[in-house]
Amino acid sequence: MRRPPDAVESGLPPPPPPFTFRRMRIEDLDGVMAIEKDGFAHPWSADLMQREMVHDWSTILVATDVRRGPGGAAVEDLVGFVVYWLVHDELHVLNVATAVKERRRGVARALLVEAASRARKAGAVLATLEVRRSNAAALALYRDLGYRQVGIRTNYYVDEGEDAIVMVLDL
Ligand SMILES: CC(C)(COP(=O)(O)OP(=O)(O)OC[C@H]1O[C@@H](n2cnc3c(N)ncnc32)[C@H](O)[C@@H]1OP(=O)(O)O)[C@@H](O)C(=O)NCCC(=O)NCCS
Repeated sequence: MRRPPDAVESGLPPPPPPFTFRRMRIEDLDGVMAIEKDGFAHPWSADLMQREMVHDWSTILVATDVRRGPGGAAVEDLVGFVVYWLVHDELHVLNVATAVKERRRGVARALLVEAASRARKAGAVLATLEVRRSNAAALALYRDLGYRQVGIRTNYYVDEGEDAIVMVLDL
């Protein structure tokens, strides 16, 4: 059977990537906070989120999905975000969340891959994070990306006295 011509053979531009990434802007705050509140029983405050936007070592990356709105205009939907610190040669993931209706589309995986790629280019060799022992979805996500468990911090989350699983990934 003949293979249909691919984008290069046909001279067409390659299809756009499913998500685009950029640093969070202040006008994204409401959208980021809506995802944060839907994602966590104890969400960060808007103040804390804004403080992360100004630290030199901290980055909030948002993932957006561009779709056609009424009249064909491009509309940018905020589908997820990741907050990470880059300190010396280490990437530390503090927070990652995907809008409820966008879950299981690869948003969080893509955000974490993008964060790792940016950190690697900046000289990072190791990624670290903590995750609640009960957060099965996040644990599955991190394992899927190759993170491995290296320890447990007992009662790390003071709100519920829950343990944190410490995970690392060589970049
Ligand atoms: C955890 C979370 C960020 C995952 O986001 P997502 O965009 O839906 O994840 P992805 O679609 O990129 O999933 C990538 C992989 O992670 C794993 N995964 C993600 N969600 C899962 C779930 N609910 N159950 C089991 N595995 C899951 C799977 O291996 C998945 O690959 P697959 O879909 O091909 O099977 C999302 O559920 C969320 O926002 N939760 C609330 C906030 C949170 O707990 N954040 C993490 C702690 S900081």
